[in-house]
Amino acid sequence: MALKSDFLWGGAVAAHQVEGAWNEDGKGDSIADHLTSGSVNQGRCITPIISRDNVYPNHFGINLYHSYKNDIKLFADLGLKCFRTSIAWTRIYPNGDDDVPNESGLDFYDNLFDELNKNGIEPIVTLSHFEMPYGLVKKYGGWKNRKLIDFFVKFAQTVFKRYKHKVKYWMTFNEINNQSDFQSKLALYSNSGIMGCSLKDSEKIMYQAAHYELVASARTVITGHEINPNFKIGCMLAMAPIYPSTPNPKDIFKAERANQARYWFGDIQCLGIYPEWLKIYQKQSNWNLDITQSDLDILKKGTVDYIGLSYYMSMTVEADNHEDPYYTFYEEKNKIKNKYLKESEWGWQIDPIGLRFSLNWLNDRYHKPLFIVENGLGARDTVSNKNEIHDQYRINYLKAHILEMEKAIIYDGIDIVGYTPWGIIDLISAGTGEMSKRYGLIYVDQNDKGYGTGKRLLKDSYYWYQALIKNNGIKLEE
Ligand code: BG6
Repeated sequence: MALKSDFLWGGAVAAHQVEGAWNEDGKGDSIADHLTSGSVNQGRCITPIISRDNVYPNHFGINLYHSYKNDIKLFADLGLKCFRTSIAWTRIYPNGDDDVPNESGLDFYDNLFDELNKNGIEPIVTLSHFEMPYGLVKKYGGWKNRKLIDFFVKFAQTVFKRYKHKVKYWMTFNEINNQSDFQSKLALYSNSGIMGCSLKDSEKIMYQAAHYELVASARTVITGHEINPNFKIGCMLAMAPIYPSTPNPKDIFKAERANQARYWFGDIQCLGIYPEWLKIYQKQSNWNLDITQSDLDILKKGTVDYIGLSYYMSMTVEADNHEDPYYTFYEEKNKIKNKYLKESEWGWQIDPIGLRFSLNWLNDRYHKPLFIVENGLGARDTVSNKNEIHDQYRINYLKAHILEMEKAIIYDGIDIVGYTPWGIIDLISAGTGEMSKRYGLIYVDQNDKGYGTGKRLLKDSYYWYQALIKNNGIKLEE
């Protein structure tokens, strides 16, 4: 009743949330560099011009660009077997459509991956984590333009060739399905670099942009396997299972449709096919999307090796009194609070059993290995006068989720490659731009405006996770 000895216990971050150095060594500005700071009550703004009057938290991150050697030492002491990060596309192709890559950017990731490998930590790399070149937004309108496919595949080929002996596990697009919430400006922008579209057009634009990304993802899988047949290339889905609010069949069908609307991306990336309901829905909407037969052939060929997933919470939905025939899912409108669950200060409902449910659901549907590449609790931390951080709430969260994951492995027989808690080190929140929404097991002395010593402190959760890795998990009877 134990986990495999090669189970990948790790930690996860993304380039734009930690690196800082936003315009150093030839890096171009990414979409994240145009996002101001926000809070739980005030969304982040997208500013086409970078203005001195705003704070842009991704410009400074936690300065990992300069401190990576020390940080990796802390990860190694923690016992991490793997570390998930992303490659900032704009360090490699600053504008996105450049002819040749930026050598300094390539060097940085050579050094980063070497340092990880030297410390016995396997790099797990996302190609696009909410940080596409802003140049592609300005010049081409983001992913609603087919040209983006070639730019992305060129970027992927460049880094695949360069790091083919340093990195084995890759993922194409982080949380590609976030944009199923097509009425969220931030989701459309972060996934696809789409700005300024009307609410009326947003659904159609999302389906077009997502289609191009899925073709790009499939081509990337195909070309990656040609470059190195040993590569493991995955998709990455934001997993939040959707429950019906009551046993009323209307609510149950609403939840079913909501799951279909949120996870059809997985149907394409794992099975290589558009689901029937979506083909009919797109056709009857008269959108005339640009989806060619050759695209469909590529989607069939370029299915992924494994499913990367993030898991933070579940969702609950209820049907309207008057549903349209398709039961179209509008996340903000249809979502309700689940009275059986507690929530974080940021309103995320905590549901460890939902993780086991999700792992079963994905396993039954796709039959691919799963890799939990994000899970964690965003919370405020207090530093004691002895410089200690007693974050028992974070330990409770992680422990409850890890136990459910272990049950999925041991009692449900699910193949799980590894587990990388999100924000192994405190970082800039993607949703709010705050530093004070902390996920890390390592504390970073820095406030929301970027002020602080930047010093790293080890939280109680660091020592707890260190012991857990040493024991290869938690004994289920604990
Ligand atoms: C995921 C993203 O959505 O959740 C991360 O992949 C993000 O980039 C994480 O940071 C937590 O969300 P937030 O908004 O609390 O940072």
